[in-house]
Amino acid sequence: MEVILRPDGESVAATAFELVLSALKAKPNLVLGLATGNTPLALYRRLREARLDLRKVRFFNLDELVGLGPRDPRSFQHFLRANLLDGLRVTPGNVRLLRGDADDLEQAAASYEAAIRKAGGIDLQILGIGRNGHIGFNEPGSSLGSRTRPKTLEATTLADYARGFPAGKAVPRFSITMGIGTILEARRLLLLATGGAKAEPIRRVVEGPVTSEVPGSALQFHPLAHVILDEAAGARLSRRDYWKWVYANKWRVGQ
Ligand code: PGA
Repeated sequence: MEVILRPDGESVAATAFELVLSALKAKPNLVLGLATGNTPLALYRRLREARLDLRKVRFFNLDELVGLGPRDPRSFQHFLRANLLDGLRVTPGNVRLLRGDADDLEQAAASYEAAIRKAGGIDLQILGIGRNGHIGFNEPGSSLGSRTRPKTLEATTLADYARGFPAGKAVPRFSITMGIGTILEARRLLLLATGGAKAEPIRRVVEGPVTSEVPGSALQFHPLAHVILDEAAGARLSRRDYWKWVYANKWRVGQ
């Protein structure tokens, strides 16, 4: 795991943008996994503003709320189109996002896994972290080997999403999400976290122990996981100075 501590949210986005850009340069037909949430918004803004030609890039996403169609403004698909994809030069047929309105969710999950395999696997998966330590909608207790499937949401997650829902409208209780096993198969992971509410989940993700009670802690098994944090999200790491030293001297390794 590589932990990168940056002073603030904008520098987290700038560092993440550089990383995504270098991955795109190395492989123009990159298979990119997207995350929904407030955290990646500044990165998505930079990607839009860069006016890149991403027509060869294949896109997948982590998760969706069950019961919401792609046009529903509360759906994750709508969020990703409005905040990223509609502002990029992409090939519509290369965008494969989960649907919350599928009649048969199990079948939709299986065909999603098949589509990822057909694309050759995900090269770079963007991740956020939930207050409860979830990645995607893999809530605490999710199997560390889980695959894409429907999943029941936890109370803290429901509370977080309730803010974005009109008063009186119930937040969907179910999601469809890539599994932890699916996420771990991506060749590279990029977890972003900003703000003090993420300090404790980040401490548990980075410093362990690995447990399904903290799904994000599964990143410790991954051979190439970057965790980019602002000062507030990294505040509870016991080895902050070490991580800063490693990052500052990265270019010297092997010299
Ligand atoms: P956030 O969500 O980026 O809005 O904090 C992250 C998550 O719940 O996975």
